[in-house]
Amino acid sequence: MAIRFESLDSDGMGRCGKLSVGTKIMKTPALLPVINPHLQIVTPAEMKKMGVEAIITNAYIFNQSVQYRNQVLAEGLHTVLDFDGVIMTDSGSFQLSVYGEVSVSNLETLSFQRDIQSDIWVPLDIPTPPSADRAAAERDLAITMERLREAKETFGIDAPIAAPVQGSLYYDLRERAGREAGGLGFPFCPIGAVVPLMEGYRYRELVQVVMAVQKALPRSACVHLFGAGHPAMFALATAMGCDLFDSAAYALFAKEARYLTPHGSYKVDELVELPCACDVCRTHTSAELRTSKDRERLLALHNLYVTLAEIARIRQAIIDGTLWELVDERCRSHPQLLSGYRELLNYGETLEAHDRVSKRRFFFQGNESCQRPEVIRYQRQTPRFRLGSKVHIAFDGRIRDGFTDTLLFKPPFGPYPREIKETFPIGQSEIPDWDEAMVRQGCRGIRNLIASHPKSRFVISCSARWLPVVQSELSGVEVCE
Ligand code: GUN
Ligand code: ZN
Repeated sequence: MAIRFESLDSDGMGRCGKLSVGTKIMKTPALLPVINPHLQIVTPAEMKKMGVEAIITNAYIFNQSVQYRNQVLAEGLHTVLDFDGVIMTDSGSFQLSVYGEVSVSNLETLSFQRDIQSDIWVPLDIPTPPSADRAAAERDLAITMERLREAKETFGIDAPIAAPVQGSLYYDLRERAGREAGGLGFPFCPIGAVVPLMEGYRYRELVQVVMAVQKALPRSACVHLFGAGHPAMFALATAMGCDLFDSAAYALFAKEARYLTPHGSYKVDELVELPCACDVCRTHTSAELRTSKDRERLLALHNLYVTLAEIARIRQAIIDGTLWELVDERCRSHPQLLSGYRELLNYGETLEAHDRVSKRRFFFQGNESCQRPEVIRYQRQTPRFRLGSKVHIAFDGRIRDGFTDTLLFKPPFGPYPREIKETFPIGQSEIPDWDEAMVRQGCRGIRNLIASHPKSRFVISCSARWLPVVQSELSGVEVCE
């Protein structure tokens, strides 16, 4: 029954992977739709036909249900839900975070999850909210870690147990929790208690939490972002190395008559058109959808289609090496998502260490692109150029006499020898007319090059337009027309 994870393709810290749980295999990134057994607005069997390979449901609800408890113990979860894919069960921790207590212990919930034949079990972790003080966060985390150790000792490391990572907004605690969960050998680690951050659009802090955990988790672990969320944030979360999401958003939004899109949601009353290719939207007008007696179910179906399509788009972007372009595009749909993206770019060194070497393309999409890991990677490599005594850097690409070497210039990357004109990222990058931020970033590439070649003399030729930028970034450097 062991859980195994294998990464097949990657871009940024995101990966397309294969998660095996016993004999079942699923693709990642993936969305696990949340199933409430009492309100199956879209059934697991219908989801299976839509391409869903895994779902998540709540063991606590089954345990407390007069209707379901004995049936699920006798027949197993897959029969009761009519779903033969991967079923993950949550423990009741979410109820714990809402109601403050639950009538089940850690070992009881884990045994129950085993007995109902769940594929992935979750211990009774304590989701510490972002508002908690440090002492409370430490206390809660100590209990969560003790429960993880108890789970491992009782059921063995090959039991399909997820190890939630807690620690509230204390990044050192998140890091410690990640290190300990990885150290205990858990191959599957959900990042917990982030729902309040996502509900509050606190994406900058979400990025800090996830990156603190990622610093400590082994790369071999499959990372689940608990309770995420809206499809607009999946690309950003994937770029941070989150492999799985579970979301009730498709149903919760439908209940409130809201229509999801990959860039935000609408109240269905606001929609004149249905801007989507799914079956629901192509067979109904907005008026029909609004007034249908099946409105909630139709919206849930549409919301699920949109969410699944976004996951497919993300997987394709990883394969193509265009995940950063997708993240950039999605994060422009809300200012707080843009803050999250900007925050992530502050982790340039970490991202650069994971980013893949070659990609299909690099599209410059604005100032944020200057900080992308491809730019950092390129500028770190320029010290390896072998140069003679007198080097010319030609912004206009025109070769002049009297130099041992001539380098061309492509912002935001910087100087490059003609020989790598066709090589990634120089050859595959598409940039618009130069602007100041871009040239400034390119000058940082020149600065690295100069610093790493103390025996060479450098002369830059640039037009009057870029002279002030060159002089402010590279003071003292020789410039000619
Ligand atoms: N669902 C959303 N957040 C959490 C969490 O932190 N822990 C568990 N077990 N389930 C969750
Ligand atoms: Zn649709």
